[in-house]
Amino acid sequence: MMTKELDKSVTYLEERGFDAPEIGIVLGSGLGRMEEELDDLLVAHYHHIPFFPLATVEFHSGKLLCGTLYGKKVVMMQGRFHLYEGYDFIDITYPIRVMHRLGIRKLLISNAAGAINPGFRKGELMLITDHLNLQGGSPLAFKSVAEFGERFVDMSCPYDREMQDMAREIAADSGIVLREGVYAAVVGPQLETRAEYRMLGRLGADAVGMSTVPEVIVANHLGLPVAAISVLTDECDPDHLEPVVVADILATAAKAEPNLVRLFRGVINRI
Ligand code: HPA
Repeated sequence: MMTKELDKSVTYLEERGFDAPEIGIVLGSGLGRMEEELDDLLVAHYHHIPFFPLATVEFHSGKLLCGTLYGKKVVMMQGRFHLYEGYDFIDITYPIRVMHRLGIRKLLISNAAGAINPGFRKGELMLITDHLNLQGGSPLAFKSVAEFGERFVDMSCPYDREMQDMAREIAADSGIVLREGVYAAVVGPQLETRAEYRMLGRLGADAVGMSTVPEVIVANHLGLPVAAISVLTDECDPDHLEPVVVADILATAAKAEPNLVRLFRGVINRI
């Protein structure tokens, strides 16, 4: 990855009015409805942005949105890149670097995740307080990383404390159940075996999914405060495991989405 490429992506977007957004937002699978809340909407399709990762067939709908959300200028990723689609760590985190260069000062991430903690129910939200990188690589393992920041990035507090507190307050004020815990990132796309769910619980995971951790590592590399919330879409009880159907995961994500939007709205208002 090169600075020149990033500059070209950013210039393309700035020429189309993506001007100095304050907050970046990544929308997870089945969590696209926040787009409807954007005013003064600008759209850039991923496949039109120079040097953006090349789309796979099923991923033609990805787009970067810019607009005003609850009075703040934001840039929003509608659709993210996953390792399981064949992209590498550099590809999937490239948009985070682009949004940072556009000017964002905070990053909010959502995802769909399986509930490992036996006390958590599907349809609930979980504030990610820490993570396990089980994806077998790093988005910072490239030769010129030092040009972009510190190579040995501190990860003692990867999720911004202030935004975590905001999310807790908003959840309490609006009666939203907000669990908290450790998110484990795996490659996928296959779901986990019972033995794997059992292992993840023993490792200290409260939820499991296939994204977010690379983006959070890069946000930390950039010194960009980040908060992330999982929508728990299935219950991963190794002793009573039901077959997991992706359509059900997406349906559960859609059902829980209004609460996620309320939480994000509250955080954005307070930033
Ligand atoms: N495992 C991994 N990723 C997921 C799951 C799961 O059970 N649910 C939603 N995303």
